[in-house]
Amino acid sequence: MAGTMEEKINHLLEMRQHAMQGGGVDKIKKHHQKGRHTARERLDMLLDEGSFEEFDMFKTHRCHHFDMEKAQIPGDGVVTGYGTIDGRLVYVFSQDFTVLGGSLSETFAEKICKVMDMAVQNGAPVIGLNDSGGARIQEGIESLAGYSEIFLRNVRSSGVIPQLSGIFGPCAGGAVYSPALTDFTVMVRGNSYMFLTGPKVVKAVTHEDVDEETLGGADVHTGKSGVAHLAADSEEDAIAHLRELFSFVPQNNMETPPRVETDDPPDREIDFLSRVLPENPNQPYDMKDIILNIIDDGRFLEIQPEFAPNLVVGFARFSGQSVGVVANQPKCLAGVLDNHSSIKGARFVRFCDAFNIPLVTLVDVPGFLPGTMQEYGGIIRNGAKLLYAYAEATVPKVTVTIRKAYGGAYCVMSSKHLKGDINYAWPSAEIAVMGPKGASEILYAKELKKHPEQAAQLLAEKEQQYADTFANPYVAAQRGYVDDIILPYRTRFRIIKALTMLENKQDALPVKKHGNIPL
Ligand code: HXC
Repeated sequence: MAGTMEEKINHLLEMRQHAMQGGGVDKIKKHHQKGRHTARERLDMLLDEGSFEEFDMFKTHRCHHFDMEKAQIPGDGVVTGYGTIDGRLVYVFSQDFTVLGGSLSETFAEKICKVMDMAVQNGAPVIGLNDSGGARIQEGIESLAGYSEIFLRNVRSSGVIPQLSGIFGPCAGGAVYSPALTDFTVMVRGNSYMFLTGPKVVKAVTHEDVDEETLGGADVHTGKSGVAHLAADSEEDAIAHLRELFSFVPQNNMETPPRVETDDPPDREIDFLSRVLPENPNQPYDMKDIILNIIDDGRFLEIQPEFAPNLVVGFARFSGQSVGVVANQPKCLAGVLDNHSSIKGARFVRFCDAFNIPLVTLVDVPGFLPGTMQEYGGIIRNGAKLLYAYAEATVPKVTVTIRKAYGGAYCVMSSKHLKGDINYAWPSAEIAVMGPKGASEILYAKELKKHPEQAAQLLAEKEQQYADTFANPYVAAQRGYVDDIILPYRTRFRIIKALTMLENKQDALPVKKHGNIPL
């Protein structure tokens, strides 16, 4: 292009201005009318002010079918680049629905792959903001190839750099598999949905009438399917969740998460913990009351709070150090382990292990949930996932048994035998093969049958005898399976001391290509 430098600069500024309007002012207006932000507005909310550096703003598609030469929009429907969140490097892409419905072309995919490759090379997380009608229909195979290239990178960088997804609009067909391959997915209620086939196809195939929200909205995926991890009421809230998640994770698998300053004293004693358990060990209580009291500043980022609530997982800090908390929840199904909670826990434990985030496990578990529903659902295979995840994890593992730790669930929940580093118990802990009632009914079945008139009294006596012998932490402590029986009100201090002691822990698995977790 001929002209003076000033003219060239002005031309560039005009070109930039044009590119930044995506699909144009009308499309942006329509998008805003639906209560949605544009791709760039979302990046502005996500990243530190002024930190965004964009790539490939002028890249356009190469499709010649269906008159597509006339639909050349600079940037081709996705905004990509890097920036910072709280000063830390992050690579980003944000799909622009105003350009051909955010549909994915070959060049669109190339732009995403470029930032994914740079993220791995430079050891920083990727955050993808999704809002797309899926594969660009006019392109066909090129767009399918593009998706596959993204999937490949999602998989190859899994466990190397954290990958976070936000769903801000439609996400349908095979497009769902990229977010599904990332570590955490945040959805916006009422404005985002994920499904393999939309309502029309569902109707044609199964004759089922269902709307988009009911088929694949945020509440469905954070409550029923477990596909997504957090649901937000607005785009702003979803971005806030992504930023907070980011604060707990390291840049890559060779680093530890950033430490955060806190005024919360490590040796804070918590009298409430001496009173939190009900007198009757079969009564429920809220495990989150314990979690919120022992962590720094009561700040807990719970992951999948609505999915399998009988197991609580989430991020917290102890003395500024990022930690993954896993805890049975006696308030829901008495805290049993079932299919969903085992899968939820296993995935979380493996994320923490991959990214050098220590695990603090709080145990109050009566066992695995019995019954045909669970057995047919594969509780053997799914329970084994959680067992596998804990056994495989080499990050510091600190466990506190609060009350029950029965049967197989005792073994699974970060027990000493699975290389738990520090295993503490409260004096209220009951560690045994099963609860006093179940054990007595089996052990004394013949006697109970022989004397049916005295069965109730006999059972009560035997239960008491069993409880006196086993429903306590002392037998486990005598064997060294529990390192100490601690004062409940000192729980925070003891966990922090253990984590500090374990800061330079070295442990490694035998060399192998990869294990074979029972999927
Ligand atoms: C090309 C698309 C498109 C697509 C939307 N558009 N999806 N263009 N390819 N996949 C265009 C529309 O033609 C329209 O263009 C603009 O984007 C906005 O779309 P609207 O339909 O007006 O918006 P809305 O009413 O909000 O509906 C959004 C939608 C709908 C629900 C996403 O557009 C839709 O159903 N699209 C098709 C979805 C789909 O079946 N995708 C393929 C999935 S299979 P104009 O010019 O009118 O503004 C797949 C395979 C991936 O993705 C496999 C990977 C392995």
